[in-house]
Amino acid sequence: MRIDVLTLFPELMQPYLSASILGRAQQAGIVEIHTHQLRDYSTDAHKKVDDRPFGGGPGMVLMCQPVIDAVYAIEKLDPRPALRLLLTPQGRVFNQAGAARYAAAERLLLICGHYEGFDERIIELLQPEEVSLGDFVLTGGEVAALAVVDAVVRLLPGALGHEEAAGLESFQNNLLDYPQYTRPRVFGGLSVPEILLSGNHAQVDAWRRAQAEERTRQRRPDLLEGRCGTDFRYSPDKNGSDDRSHCNEGRSIESTLALNCIDYCACPMAQAGPSAIAKRSA
Ligand SMILES: C[S@@+](CC[C@H](N)C(=O)[O-])C[C@H]1O[C@@H](n2cnc3c(N)ncnc32)[C@H](O)[C@@H]1O
Repeated sequence: MRIDVLTLFPELMQPYLSASILGRAQQAGIVEIHTHQLRDYSTDAHKKVDDRPFGGGPGMVLMCQPVIDAVYAIEKLDPRPALRLLLTPQGRVFNQAGAARYAAAERLLLICGHYEGFDERIIELLQPEEVSLGDFVLTGGEVAALAVVDAVVRLLPGALGHEEAAGLESFQNNLLDYPQYTRPRVFGGLSVPEILLSGNHAQVDAWRRAQAEERTRQRRPDLLEGRCGTDFRYSPDKNGSDDRSHCNEGRSIESTLALNCIDYCACPMAQAGPSAIAKRSA
């Protein structure tokens, strides 16, 4: 895989990109990561990349010319088609399903904003996927881009030392991770759960699964709701009954849950609250 990042601050990103798992993945040839200074693509004599907003208002806006020219020039550096990702608080919120989808791409091009953001025509012309790190505003796209790159690279085969590690973590199965313990067996008066010391792998697996489900139910019930998949649409049946036991394709909630979909869930059932699904699947 190849990842390019267009930024005004490549020097901020480099130390993180070259350390730990990301650094090792590059050394092992699993991923190539290149950062590009946006100013290098400005045709302005002073390498200007931003200007005042039309209509007035505070701040500066990133201009079309440097960003558009940079994207086209960077894309020409490699024949693989790049999936363009533009970091913005107005994008779809990034999650583990997004990381898995991006990890399947041959090439990513991440475009980091700064100041007041991008001239809207950049988005119209490049048609990138707009990606947000969450409902808050950062100074620039670099931290968000690093989060995306990190989450993607650790999913690439061979990037993690232990091949199974990524599969057992939070969100991989729309569940949070189970609680982990290491030595010593007793610390601060607290003991490691006996079952983990039993050597019975089947029982340990069952305990961990139950812990993960309970923890998810308590902390992130929305994740369990997400497991019903993208195509679950509640609609009253033809008798007008308020029975929410099946989707409009006639599939039961239980069987839809069993599909274990990791895709983004726009499920209106979620609006019925976690208790509705918990009751049905109990
Ligand atoms: C100060 S922000 C601009 C915010 C913009 N005026 C708005 O309100 O939507 C500058 C840049 O930081 C990045 N950024 C800020 N918050 C972000 C977030 N939550 N997710 C991803 N990128 C973000 C974007 O690249 C953005 O262009």
